[in-house]
Amino acid sequence: MPHNSDLQRGAFRSKFGFLMAAIGSAVGLGNIWGFPYKMGTNGGFAFLIVYLFLVALVGFVILIVELSLGRTTGKGAIGSYMELSRRFKWLGWLAFLSAFFIMTFYSVLGGYCIRYAVANFGNLIGASFGTGQTDAGNFFASFISNQSASIIYTLVFMIITAGIVMKGVSGGIESFSKTAMPLLFVMLLVVVIRSVTLPGAVEGLRFMFKPNLEPFKTNFFKVLSTASGQMFFSLSLAMGAMITYGSYLQKTDNIVRDAVLIPAADTFIAILAGMAVLPAAFALGGEGAAMAGPKLLFITLQHVFESMGSTGPLFGLIFYILVIIAALTSAISLVEVITAFFLDAADARGKKANRKLTAALVSLSIMLVAVVVAADGLGSTGFPAIMGYIWLDFLDLLSEGIMMPLGALLTAVFISFEYGLPKIAAEVKLGNSRFASYSFFAFSLKFVVPAVLLLVLYGQLKGFGLLG
Ligand code: PHE
Repeated sequence: MPHNSDLQRGAFRSKFGFLMAAIGSAVGLGNIWGFPYKMGTNGGFAFLIVYLFLVALVGFVILIVELSLGRTTGKGAIGSYMELSRRFKWLGWLAFLSAFFIMTFYSVLGGYCIRYAVANFGNLIGASFGTGQTDAGNFFASFISNQSASIIYTLVFMIITAGIVMKGVSGGIESFSKTAMPLLFVMLLVVVIRSVTLPGAVEGLRFMFKPNLEPFKTNFFKVLSTASGQMFFSLSLAMGAMITYGSYLQKTDNIVRDAVLIPAADTFIAILAGMAVLPAAFALGGEGAAMAGPKLLFITLQHVFESMGSTGPLFGLIFYILVIIAALTSAISLVEVITAFFLDAADARGKKANRKLTAALVSLSIMLVAVVVAADGLGSTGFPAIMGYIWLDFLDLLSEGIMMPLGALLTAVFISFEYGLPKIAAEVKLGNSRFASYSFFAFSLKFVVPAVLLLVLYGQLKGFGLLG
C-alpha cells in the first residue's frame, strides 16, 4: 500500500492512471496553442530541433528530480522543500504562487475554448449561438470584450476543474485522465488527418519538417530562449505539479521510465498539434497565416473551420473539445498543487484534512482573480493595465516568465550543492529500478540545466522589457 493512503491526499491506483494524469498535466494549452504558434513565429524546423534537444537534455533531468523529491517526502511542493532543504525551504512557495497565477489566466483561456466548442456546435446545428455571419476576427473580438460571457465561461471551466479535484487523486484526477487522454489523442488524429489533406497543406508540413537552419543565423538566441520557456511550461516543470504527482507514486514505480514516457508523449502531442494547426493555417493563407502568433488558435483556425464547408463545424467541435480536455487535465494538476499544500499542512498539525472543502476554496480563490482577467478581455474592455501590461500578460510574465525559470534554476542549485545527487539516485533505484543514465543526468543537472536556465531568464526579462 502507498505510504499515504489513509490520508485525504490519496494516491494513484495504477501505473497507467498515473501516466495519463502526468501526461495530462503536461499536455495542455502549451502544446496545442503555444507550441504551434511559437513554432510558427520562430522558424518552424529550427524551433523544433532546439526544442527536441532541450526536452532530452533538460526536461528529462528536471522531471526525474521533481518526481523523486515528491516521492521521497510523500508531500507536495511546499512540504517537500520544507522537509528536505535548509537553505531553500521557501522554494515550494515559489511553485505554489506560480501555480496560482497561472491558473488565474489559464482558466480564462480554458473558458474561451469552451465558448469555441459551443460556437462550432452552434454552427453545426445552425443555432444562434454559433458564429453566424460574423467573421472569425470579429467573433473573437466581440466575445473577449463581452465581459459577462467571458466571466461565465471562465467560471464554467473552473467549476469543472474543481469538481474533478474534489473527487480526489484516484477517484477524480486519475479516472478523468484515464478516459479523457486517450480520447484527446484519437480526436487529435482525426483533426491532423483533415488538416494535412487540405489543399496547400503540404507547405505547412514542409515548414515544420524540412531541414532549414536559416532562422538560427539571425535569431538563434531568441529561438533558444523561446523554446526553453515553452519546454518548461509544456512539461509542467518548476510549478510543483510533478513534485505533487510524484508524491502519489508507489515506491516500486520506475521513475526513469516515467521521466522518459511523459516528455516523449508530451512532445509527440505537441508535434501532432503542430500538424493539426500549421498545415491548416498554411492552406488558408500561407506562411503569413501560420505566423499569426497567439491569434492562431482562436482566429486563424476558426477561420479554417468556417472555410471548410459543411464538415467544418464538426472538425471545429472535435478540435475545441480536445483543447478543453487538454486544458482541464493541466488545470487539475495546478489546482492539486495548491490543494495538496493545505492537506499536507492539516496533516502536519494532526488535523483531519478535508479534500472537498479545500479544493473548493482553492478554486474559489482562483476564480476571484480569474474574474478580473476575464473581464479585462485581453485588454479590450478599458480595464486599467498593470505596469503597462494587460492582466493576462502580466500574470504570465510573473509566473511563466520569471518565477518558473527562477524556480527551476534554484532547484538545480539545491540538488547539486545542498541535497546531493546520490540521494536522488537512491530514490530512483528503489523498487529495483535501474538508473543507467545517471552520469548523463548528473552532468546535465550540474552544467547544462543552469546554463540553459540563465539564458531563459535573461531572454524572458529582456523580452518583457525589464532589462531595458
Ligand atoms: N503543461 C501545461 C500546458 O502545456 C501547463 C502547466 C504548467 C500545467 C505547469 C501544470 C503545471 O499547457
